[in-house]
Order: sequence, then C-alpha cells, then structure tokens
Amino acid sequence: MGSIKRGALIVIEGVDRSGKSTQCKKLVEALQKKDISAKLMSFPDRTTLTGKLIDDYLKNEENKLNDRAIHLLYSANRWENVEKMKSLLDKGVTLIVDRYSYSGIVFSAVKKVMSLDWCKCPESGLPKPDLVFLLTLEEQEMLKRPGFGNERYENKTFQRNVANMYETLCNEEDNWIKVNAAGSIDEVHSKLLQACLKGLEKFQTAPLKSLFF
Ligand code: TMP
Ligand code: MG
Repeated sequence: MGSIKRGALIVIEGVDRSGKSTQCKKLVEALQKKDISAKLMSFPDRTTLTGKLIDDYLKNEENKLNDRAIHLLYSANRWENVEKMKSLLDKGVTLIVDRYSYSGIVFSAVKKVMSLDWCKCPESGLPKPDLVFLLTLEEQEMLKRPGFGNERYENKTFQRNVANMYETLCNEEDNWIKVNAAGSIDEVHSKLLQACLKGLEKFQTAPLKSLFF
C-alpha cells in the first residue's frame, strides 16, 4: 500500500479587482478536469464566528474596532480553519486559496500603525503555501475595471499602497510568481495552470512547511 501524496497549498493574492476569485475558481475546475483532487478556499471565511465580526467591520463604517484587533481577528479566522486545511491536504486535496496571510499582512501594514514584523507574528505557524501567485495590475488598468464596491479599503489610494506593499513582500519570498492580470481571463488562467502543474509533483512529495519561523 503506497501512501497518498499530500495536496499542494496554492495561494492567489493581489489588489481588488485583479481577478483573484475568477482565477481561483477556474484553477480548481481545471485541476479537477485533470483528475487532480482540488478545492477552493477563501479568506476571510465570513461564515465562522470571527468571519461574522470581520464582515461587520468591512461593511459598517461605524465599526470602530482598532487596527490591531481587526488584524488579529483576520489571523484568528485563518487559525479557525487550520485543522480543516491540514486534514484536506493530508487526504491529498490540493487547496487553491483566495487570499491568505499575505493579505492579512499587507492590508494591515499599509495602515502604518503596526510594523511589518508585528503584522507577520500571528501568522507564524500556519501552513506555508507551496506557491503564491501575485496578480498585478498597473494603476491605469485597475481604474479601467468595473467600480469599487462599498466595503472598507475599496478605494484608489488604499489599493495603491496595498499594491506597493505586496511588492515588498514578494521581494522577500522565493516561491512567489508575479502574473500580470491585465491579460484576458484565459491568458492569465493558462499561466497559472501551467505553473501549478509544473510544481505539483515537487510540492506533493515535500513536507508541508510553516510560515515565518
Ligand atoms: P474579500 O473582498 O476578498 O472578501 O476580502 C475582504 C477584505 O478584507 C479585502 O479588502 C481584503 C481584506 N483582508 C484583510 O484586511 N486581511 C486579511 O487577512 C484578509 C484575508 C483580507
Ligand atoms: Mg472584496
């Protein structure tokens, strides 16, 4: 009896409207079509206890939760899901994750209240992604896309800062692939799928690492 390979942990990050959710969905479908067991997850997971508090914070301007408290809630929202993630990975299911710890770090660090290191701390020990895609958009491209919604953070200045902070993080990591999101949905998709398939065997046979130790 051979042991089954673990699933790979693959994350897609990027500014609002860069097409993360669309690309995550397409990637899961394409992997499944190739008989690779795959599942979509997204953060924040608004269905859990912390997820409901986060949802209120995002939708309600009156919500005065301070910057550190909301940062820790986002992190707790990932920790709430850690057993589920590990159990799926153990069963050989590849997880395609729409935003992860890097969103947590970037969106909080741009507020300039907490240092980058402080923002990383509560993520320490979470499963480390095997591969992170950063979907990038030139500002002009970002502005061409359909309008921002009404949630907190959905404005040009904040998103510009987020894009710059993603670049800073990307330069610190060796397993990130930057993909220009300005291409067509299918062009972007085929780049992501190719990179996933190329790394899959290696990811599935290596031990899962932890973040930021
Ligand atoms: P969503 O639009 O992908 O549902 O994410 C909601 C907002 O939450 C989005 O503006 C990014 C932000 N965010 C954080 O500030 N910290 C986090 O840890 C995550 C996952 C998202
Ligand atoms: Mg959003």
